[in-house]
Amino acid sequence: MATRGETGEQAAAADRGRFITLEGGEGAGKSTQAQRLAGHLRERGLEALVTREPGGSPKAEAIRELILSGVVAPLGAAAEALMFSAARIDHLDAAIRPALARGAWVVCDRFADSTRAYQGALGNLDPRFIRELERVTVGPDRPDLTVMIDVPAATGLARAAQRRGGAPDRFEAEGLAFHEALRRTFLDIAADEPARCVVVNGEASPDEVERQIWAAVQERLPLPGSGPQPKPVVRDAQRRKEQGAAHPKGDERRKSGDRRKSASSPARASREKSAP
Ligand code: TMP
Repeated sequence: MATRGETGEQAAAADRGRFITLEGGEGAGKSTQAQRLAGHLRERGLEALVTREPGGSPKAEAIRELILSGVVAPLGAAAEALMFSAARIDHLDAAIRPALARGAWVVCDRFADSTRAYQGALGNLDPRFIRELERVTVGPDRPDLTVMIDVPAATGLARAAQRRGGAPDRFEAEGLAFHEALRRTFLDIAADEPARCVVVNGEASPDEVERQIWAAVQERLPLPGSGPQPKPVVRDAQRRKEQGAAHPKGDERRKSGDRRKSASSPARASREKSAP
């Protein structure tokens, strides 16, 4: 309800739910953590919608089947990006936007960062194409917080194989180098957008990952009834910058000479390629 001096639009924005996405490579534990995070939110009396991409609405789930079966792959990365975007348009219209508008918190297992990474960076697409696609499909409904769950590619693939049992899907079937590059891309996205993204070490136990994610949500997003707000996000982003890494293992990386922000990262390489 609008209070004195508040426009209808401001009141609607204040009542809007929050949009949290979980991103990362295969077998990072996103689905488990999405459920656990929703549990915390519900304990606070909030409505939480757990959803996923591709999918999350009947039409988007139909598109998911098509993409993961591999029939779109021969058309190339741009066509796949368009298919993921078509699914995203319906998912946003049918599920995410209505939930946010009624004040629900949305926890989404993968979203637009997966298109940036899998199709954009790994598919070697022009970043301007991906940005424009994101502008058209997502518009102002960007995530309020994105949690990158980081695991070494080999660990994630082994977990995914164990969970699945059968044949790998379209993307699980890609080689280790693809998945390692994917990991670097997600970390690059997080480093480039520290105000939106937080990186969590997915090699920790599920309970510890859950604890870290819940701490990040509480630190960065105002929970109704949680009293005075903690540190502003910008201070946290600045601290990360000063530490020189968005990843908890940043020091180890520097010691071992792993220069995450080097041009070997597909995201950076493709950005640099398209720079005027
Ligand atoms: P998952 O739901 O089991 O993670 O499977 C979805 C697969 O689709 C996963 O391999 C990542 C991939 N994917 C993309 O390539 N682009 C996208 O935009 C999304 C949302 C997922």
